[in-house]
Amino acid sequence: MLDWELTDRLIFAGPSSKDFANTLARRLSLPLLSVTVKEFSDTETRFKIEEDVRGTSILLVQSTYPPVDRNYMQFFLAAHHLSQEGARVHAVIPYMGYARQDKQFMHGEVVSLGVISHLLRSCGVVRVTTVDIHSAEGLALFAMPTYSVSAIPSLAQYIKKNLKLSSPVVISPDFGSSKRTEAFATLYGAEHLQFAKERDRVTGDVTIDAGELNVKGRDIVVVDDMISTGGTILAAAEKLRKAQAARIVVGCIHPLLVGDAYERLIEAGVDEIIGTNTVPSRVSKVDATEPLASYLRTVAE
Ligand code: R5P
Repeated sequence: MLDWELTDRLIFAGPSSKDFANTLARRLSLPLLSVTVKEFSDTETRFKIEEDVRGTSILLVQSTYPPVDRNYMQFFLAAHHLSQEGARVHAVIPYMGYARQDKQFMHGEVVSLGVISHLLRSCGVVRVTTVDIHSAEGLALFAMPTYSVSAIPSLAQYIKKNLKLSSPVVISPDFGSSKRTEAFATLYGAEHLQFAKERDRVTGDVTIDAGELNVKGRDIVVVDDMISTGGTILAAAEKLRKAQAARIVVGCIHPLLVGDAYERLIEAGVDEIIGTNTVPSRVSKVDATEPLASYLRTVAE
């Protein structure tokens, strides 16, 4: 039994996710909260929300791709204000920055995702929904109900329908991505292979062990949760080119594509990169608002 009365459900389109939030609002037939945003030249942000939000439930949609800290800060400013004004704030964070630092890999490291969870809570967030969090283990760091929706079925469907690959082999570039990639391969109806990756924790350099690789003349789909610098995919593509694979397609959920990662991947022989719109980019072809909306219809706040 709730000790308050819910009168409305609204969507707050955070500055990093305007298009995404608009599409989500259309899918859920929910109105957008009217917000004035001013971004100052020193990069500070001012929000002005004149509507009365008391008793409403607000889906605050803000993806935290780079600049990660700024996008989080905007989230915190808005969430704190809305919860202080009497709204229930449900964080919808399509790409969750800092999710890779969900434990101490080396002595003395800050568990950044734990800090994010703490900050969300102190800003009054009562529920969190994200898309394909880096690792399910990270969900345990949140004190409020937190769920990661998977856009893998949408990615598999898009690639199958639009790329017309000939009996492709689906590759996991590392163990961390194997569950996701296996799900992709099953949905696609394709063979699945697993590479082993090692990342030097100090330099960040990636080496990949592809084992005995028999993919000569075969089309390939490498599937990962995100492409950041492109180092992981570059190392995988090198093995695949050496093994004389045919087309190399990369499917990822979060196409961060930092700096010239896209150009470097294409130069290295990747034929196509397909990502979702959790991060806006030139490869964001798959609409992750669809699985997200299906899940959000099932939660009442
Ligand atoms: C790592 O475990 C992730 O799943 C990705 O493989 C990785 O974060 C991608 O980063 P980058 O593109 O910089 O190699």
